[in-house]
Amino acid sequence: MAMSHQKATSTAPDHGDVRIRAASLSDLAAVVEVDAADTGIAKPAYWKSRFEWYVGRRPDRFFLVAERQQEMLGFIVGEVRAWEFGSPPSGWIFAIGVSPEARLHGLGTMLFDAICVRFRKAGVSEVRTMLAKDDRLIMSFFRSLGMMAGPFIQLEKRLEP
Ligand SMILES: CC(C)(COP(=O)(O)OP(=O)(O)OC[C@H]1O[C@@H](n2cnc3c(N)ncnc32)[C@H](O)[C@@H]1OP(=O)(O)O)[C@@H](O)C(=O)NCCC(=O)NCCS
Repeated sequence: MAMSHQKATSTAPDHGDVRIRAASLSDLAAVVEVDAADTGIAKPAYWKSRFEWYVGRRPDRFFLVAERQQEMLGFIVGEVRAWEFGSPPSGWIFAIGVSPEARLHGLGTMLFDAICVRFRKAGVSEVRTMLAKDDRLIMSFFRSLGMMAGPFIQLEKRLEP
């Protein structure tokens, strides 16, 4: 997909003094909290390992947060991956979360746009993600940003014990 989008917003964006910046280790606890609010499961060890992989280590890995007055309101995680599944280099989004009370004010869109700018600067022209087919919220969100079904299909099989 093209990595910019034009859409008419039904709710006026209310970005206020929100800023998007690279995450740092001090954001770990807030990310665990936002993710736990989204998924119902706190996963501190998982997010610690994701911080080790994504935060400040490589120019093609991105962990961005949205904050207003030092309060972390949302995050997005992705990286440029090349040649896996035979795919030329492209930007992959692996996680996004916006604090429940901050939703529907354009923060998810800001985070998506910000990581797409970084993907473009890293030299790729496609952005991809994967989601559960029946997750209507995340599907509506990504569809609203212009993302569409791509050329790959996920297959799986239960392994024998
Ligand atoms: C999906 C999510 C990131 C959206 O964040 P947000 O800041 O509310 O998003 P935006 O305000 O930028 O919304 C952009 C568009 O997404 C769509 N959208 C967002 N929330 C929606 C909802 N509840 N229902 C339907 N469409 C929705 C709309 O089209 C919206 O545009 P509009 O406001 O002009 O209608 C947020 O709801 C979230 O964190 N959900 C949980 C995510 C999750 O489960 N993560 C774990 C797997 S990665």
